[in-house]
Amino acid sequence: MTQPPGRQRRRASLRRRLVAVAIGLVAVVAATMGLVSTLALRGTLVGQLDARLLATSDRAAAFEPRTAPDVGTSADTDADSLPGGLPPALGAPGQSTGTVTVETSGGTVRGGLIDQQGFQQLDATQRADLLAVPADGRPHTVTVADLGTYRVIAHATNGRTLVTGLSMAETTSTVKAYLVGEIIIVVAGLAVAAIAGTALVRREMVPLERVAATAARVSEQPLERGVVTLERVPAQDADDTSEVGQVATALNRMLGHVEAALAARHESETQVRQFVADASHELRTPLASIRGYAELVRRLPEDLPEDVVRSMERVESESVRMTALVEDMLLLARLDAGRSLDRDEVDLAALAVDAVADAHVAGPDHVWHLDVGGSPDDGLGVDLAEQDLEAEPALVVGDEHRLRQVLANLLTNARVHTPPGTTVTVRVRRVDDEVVVQVGDDGPGIAPELAPRLFQRFARGDAARSPGTGSTGLGLAIVDAVVSAHGGRIEVDGTPGATTFTVRLRAAA
Ligand SMILES: Nc1ncnc2c1ncn2[C@@H]1O[C@H](COP(=O)(O)OP(=O)(O)OP(=O)(O)O)[C@@H](O)[C@H]1O
Ligand SMILES: [Mg+2]
Repeated sequence: MTQPPGRQRRRASLRRRLVAVAIGLVAVVAATMGLVSTLALRGTLVGQLDARLLATSDRAAAFEPRTAPDVGTSADTDADSLPGGLPPALGAPGQSTGTVTVETSGGTVRGGLIDQQGFQQLDATQRADLLAVPADGRPHTVTVADLGTYRVIAHATNGRTLVTGLSMAETTSTVKAYLVGEIIIVVAGLAVAAIAGTALVRREMVPLERVAATAARVSEQPLERGVVTLERVPAQDADDTSEVGQVATALNRMLGHVEAALAARHESETQVRQFVADASHELRTPLASIRGYAELVRRLPEDLPEDVVRSMERVESESVRMTALVEDMLLLARLDAGRSLDRDEVDLAALAVDAVADAHVAGPDHVWHLDVGGSPDDGLGVDLAEQDLEAEPALVVGDEHRLRQVLANLLTNARVHTPPGTTVTVRVRRVDDEVVVQVGDDGPGIAPELAPRLFQRFARGDAARSPGTGSTGLGLAIVDAVVSAHGGRIEVDGTPGATTFTVRLRAAA
């Protein structure tokens, strides 16, 4: 699986390989059987031919043309029974068509054959082919020039050699016909086996494909949050009798375990979230009391020592900070729990105008730019309250209070985490079916080590960690959670001198 792509050989599908192996085995078995049966048939036929050959040879050897007293010494002894130049033995009674005979005696060599037309003489080459057979009285196979293959037997007795042969043409043609028939049957059988095998394997693979499809669908399901219900392989495919059924059962069991584990995780997450929400909620009242009492003490008509007044001021300011922190934690816990937000039509351009105005008051040492599409300002950091802004409405559906908080958090960051004199630009645009809000600054940028966990809770830069900055690291986590709860997304594009947070929300229809 993990081979480099160059060396990786594409493997055929299991279905194809199974069919190919089955067909290959059938072909080997059929070929072996065909070969053995053909050889057996040929052996039987040759055996029968040999039996006939022995009879023919015996008849030829026994045949003595009695008409001539000088038999075996003169060339014309058989002139009465056979045409001239033919061996007398060929004329023995009972010799069948296809018989060849060569006879040598006293330096004379005569050869002839019986065919459909009658007796024919053999030429010198044919005679030589036949005489090459050893005279051992056993049948041999010989190819005779222009005549074909013969089973031949040769005897040598008192200076006379008699070679008798029978044509194998019939045997050969029978074996050939048998072989052709066999090949046709085997090829047809293989074709049927291939079609039937493919259909069968395909049918058997269907449950496996269903199992794979289930696994693929489960793998595409989002599992990271919430209650997860996982699909299972249908019961009809999960019976333990077949191998596919065993795979399906194992997969179903695994999915069951995964579902149980995810449910347990969800349960514990819910408990933690509930605990944080409850704790935050419970802290609100005592914090309000602390703040109230501190304020009360500070405002007492009696002249209090100065360090008591300062301590009370600190108690008050810290309780304000802690209240904000508790509110943030409560908000995050509620957003985590999927608490539904208000769904009003909100004009982000108007919210941006307000937010920039507030930021301008809070950070008069920064240069604030606002670009809401309608009339971009002149970039001089003018008092926005006096500007005649004809912002193009950028409407989204959502929770106005939370969206204000998003802008406030981003603008506060641009003010708090950058030195005085930094230019901050807020842009609101409608792009296609989205409203895009961008908050950019030319400050020092986000520390690289912070970037990967910028939107995590309590993630903050080193400078923000120093006591007294009032930084908790929840601001961007809240921005992210609120934007996500609205179905939008937030990105940051950060290089020193150009940090831009981009929020995208679906525009109201
Ligand atoms: N515009 C910015 N320029 C430089 N650094 C930034 C900017 N915005 C955020 N950061 C860095 O990201 C960190 C996380 O910001 P976040 O708003 O989540 O927390 P915070 O501002 O530190 O605290 P909080 O907003 O809860 O009071 C900050 O501590 C700061 O280091
Ligand atoms: Mg912040």
